[in-house]
Amino acid sequence: MAPNQTTSLLSDDESNHDTRRNARTHPGTNPFIFTALIALSCVGLSAASAFGFLYFSTSSSTTHSAQKLSSIERTGRPSSKLPRPVVIMISADGFRFGYQFKTATPSIDRLMAEGTSADRGLIPVYPTLTFPNHYSIVTGLYPAYHGIINNYFVDPATGDEFTLASHDPKFWLGEPLWETVANHGLPAAAYYWAGAEVVKGSWTCPPQFCPKYNSSVPLEERIDTLLSNFDLPLEEIPVLMNLYIESPDAQGHQVGPDDPQITAAVGRVDSLLGRLITGLEQRALLDEVTVIFVGDHGMVGTCDKKYIYIEDFAEWIDIPEEWIMYHTPVLSIRPPAGVDAAEVVSKMTEALESGKLNNGGSLKVYLKENLPARLHYSDSDRITPIIGIVAEGYTVEQRRVAGEEMCWGSHGYDNAAFSMRTIFVGRGPKFGKGVVVPSFENVELYNAVTSILGISGAPNNGTSGFVNTVLRRR
Ligand SMILES: *[C@@H]1O[C@H](CO)[C@@H](O)[C@H](O)[C@H]1NC(C)=O
Ligand SMILES: *[C@@H]1O[C@H](CO)[C@@H](O)[C@H](O)[C@H]1NC(C)=O
Repeated sequence: MAPNQTTSLLSDDESNHDTRRNARTHPGTNPFIFTALIALSCVGLSAASAFGFLYFSTSSSTTHSAQKLSSIERTGRPSSKLPRPVVIMISADGFRFGYQFKTATPSIDRLMAEGTSADRGLIPVYPTLTFPNHYSIVTGLYPAYHGIINNYFVDPATGDEFTLASHDPKFWLGEPLWETVANHGLPAAAYYWAGAEVVKGSWTCPPQFCPKYNSSVPLEERIDTLLSNFDLPLEEIPVLMNLYIESPDAQGHQVGPDDPQITAAVGRVDSLLGRLITGLEQRALLDEVTVIFVGDHGMVGTCDKKYIYIEDFAEWIDIPEEWIMYHTPVLSIRPPAGVDAAEVVSKMTEALESGKLNNGGSLKVYLKENLPARLHYSDSDRITPIIGIVAEGYTVEQRRVAGEEMCWGSHGYDNAAFSMRTIFVGRGPKFGKGVVVPSFENVELYNAVTSILGISGAPNNGTSGFVNTVLRRR
């Protein structure tokens, strides 16, 4: 491993990003290393750093736009250069709602002014982690139903471990948008999005439109690659293009949400969107193509000794590390056969309520079936029988480790926390202009995208009627 990778252990999420990167760039790497990385992150040894022009020349495009405008006025429907609707979906990892106010963000502002945005941001699903949320955005399913219940888990039925490097379709349930598109015999492109490389159903992850994850590919190059799709023969242009960028999550983990580095990263994300907008304008396609800009989750600072230690429960109940699938911020415990989970919850709760535990008030432990229903986090065997909800900004660790206290950022907490919210803006023929809709959960987006594309989708957890609230009514 390169030194920057070994020092890249930060939060669970980021270390798993590194796991993924490592796995993909070194396919022969021993699985032990993955396990070790995850184990390390679980005990919280969090260290310092994370992680064509079609047929139109530019000169004729003005005339063409003018013609297009008049055709909209005449028919109420834009004349079309592309044979079908096209949706571009860009995700900026860890783009906390409100980041857009940190600095000048002319491109985000423009998308909002000319499109539809969510009033107080997009609500992620629980747990507010990268893979569960990216996969919810493209499947419309809560993690319990799409199977990616965490960035790391063990399937109790088989004992198989899921890591961010796992592309085996057995882990990835549900039907992601690119598969839905492929089912209709249409081309789709998915760049680096969680699940993209999973060959599944009619989705083959074609190399041209689905490259293997490589975090070193510059962000600008990713935008240019996406734009180059529009220079293909019309019938080959993907109708769906998903693009993932690691920023500003990587910086957020390192320094927390309130640091000049984040401000700079937000400015960079905005300029990437500007690059996309300009590229579409140059092709006279901006008003024909739908651009959806989203994030997967927010970010919160984790300073100030906000630790809860599992070893502190010993006076009430001994909880060995082997019982714990994931420490923080989704404390996931699977006691061995013969140990009554309800009894464990009751002992732990007694300890937490005793007032004797370090930060005991910042953890609540549940049998998963008793979790608040709004979390939708019980209906899967992969979810451990006991789940602890960790208060925003707190961290659970097995035991005290000397010299570990430091400040950084994290996410994964209850999706009711405002800090976990992210951004949503949609601009395109079906989105109202300058419209602000109430915040909604990201599982709603699947139906919105299939509706824009005019194709039928798979059953999902989006609510009926939502599409009429976010898209323009005809
Ligand atoms: C990843 O991308 C970088 C930058 O474009 C490139 O130099 C490198 O060869 C790529 N790695 C792999 C494994 O393709
Ligand atoms: C979510 O959608 C799946 C697939 O349609 C369904 O099986 C499940 O019951 C739904 N869950 C909720 C909470 O609506």
